Amino acid sequence: MATTQRSEQNQSVPKQPQRSRDWSWPYWPFVPLYPYGQRRTLCREIVKGKIWTFEQLQGILYVIIPVRMTVIKLAAGGLLVYAPVAPTRECIRMVKDLIEKHGEIKYIILPTASGIEHKVFTGPFSKRFPKAQVFVSPSQWTFPLNIPLSWLGLSGRQTQKLPANSADTPFADEFDYAILGPVDLGLGPFEEVALYHKPTKTLLITDSIVSIPVNPPQVLQFAPYPMLFHAKDNAFDVVEDTPTIRRKGWQRMALFAFYFQPSVLDVVNTKQTFKDARQAPDRSKKAYFGLFPVQWHPDWKRAFDTFRQDGNPVVAPILRKLIFNRNPEVVLQWADRVAQWNFRRIIPCHLDAPVMTTPQKFNQAFDFLRSAPPPQRGWFAKKQPISVNFPKEDMAFLDRVDQFLCDRNITPPAKPLPRETSEQ
Ligand SMILES: [Fe+2]
Repeated sequence: MATTQRSEQNQSVPKQPQRSRDWSWPYWPFVPLYPYGQRRTLCREIVKGKIWTFEQLQGILYVIIPVRMTVIKLAAGGLLVYAPVAPTRECIRMVKDLIEKHGEIKYIILPTASGIEHKVFTGPFSKRFPKAQVFVSPSQWTFPLNIPLSWLGLSGRQTQKLPANSADTPFADEFDYAILGPVDLGLGPFEEVALYHKPTKTLLITDSIVSIPVNPPQVLQFAPYPMLFHAKDNAFDVVEDTPTIRRKGWQRMALFAFYFQPSVLDVVNTKQTFKDARQAPDRSKKAYFGLFPVQWHPDWKRAFDTFRQDGNPVVAPILRKLIFNRNPEVVLQWADRVAQWNFRRIIPCHLDAPVMTTPQKFNQAFDFLRSAPPPQRGWFAKKQPISVNFPKEDMAFLDRVDQFLCDRNITPPAKPLPRETSEQ
């Protein structure tokens, strides 16, 4: 094992080209997320000849995670697309490869009412396939202006709302779906469509569930610099580009992405940050001119391991603290319904995929919304569930955000938890 780790540390990582017309995404200023005007696409076959994922990157300030579109082959020929990504030349070319083998895109699903990182691409993607029918999550809205879908590039002729009854769609023979919400957030509702593909026992999810991998998702290898940046321990650190360093940077990025300010991270004061930057070995624009305003605690890895929960499906902290707790009853009704499907893999739109799991583990991910059962004693006491709640100290930043939003009546307060923890 030690030999493997040593050789991995010394292994150099091949350099990637930086730009290509194939990756160009000129509309990035509408939603200015990293990697802005250059978005590479990774296509992976998940179920042979039946399911493929198309992954790109998205992030803010070098906190980068994958965003994913899933394509499913229909039994009668043709394709269904769930949550489109940016239709770059490269992406469209890869989609057309599938079309050549399996038939035209018949259906495109926009499975969220609030996830702008998915909504923004659905119009431009659909325009490339005008014969496809587009189905959108019913409670669409935008902020600060509530603009019509046509302004997002979705034509009225091509687009319709998903019916409340999943049996009323032309793909009902192979698919079922359940709509989570709407959950009132004050500014607009949260809504997400879980889509179940019966023949492959596959559940497609947008944002509600993620699984956190130990190693960086493959698509992140297209843009290694953010991982190297976060692997630094301080402004003076010089890190080598090795798989071990990339993994360290990835795990810290995951902590940033979900807690924003985990307890194992201190913020360095502004004066010291600028002082350190003057002596930093890399003061390039890419390295933010040497500014590195954070300091990780030595036990940061423990926080990652706790948060990861062995790769089981989890609900991200921001959804727990600011969204799902606004209406636990509605979220649990949806989770219970989804858990009745007999799926064995989940493909979420972010982080790891596919997640090989069970409906029971999916449902347990929502136990933080259920009241804890009374403690049991004796020989027949049930095993305690895996950690239902993330550490209080790591949730402290989101607690403050929650308080801020509630104090100003921007969002409604959390509702009480309705039910006991699900069966373990
Ligand atoms: Fe998302």
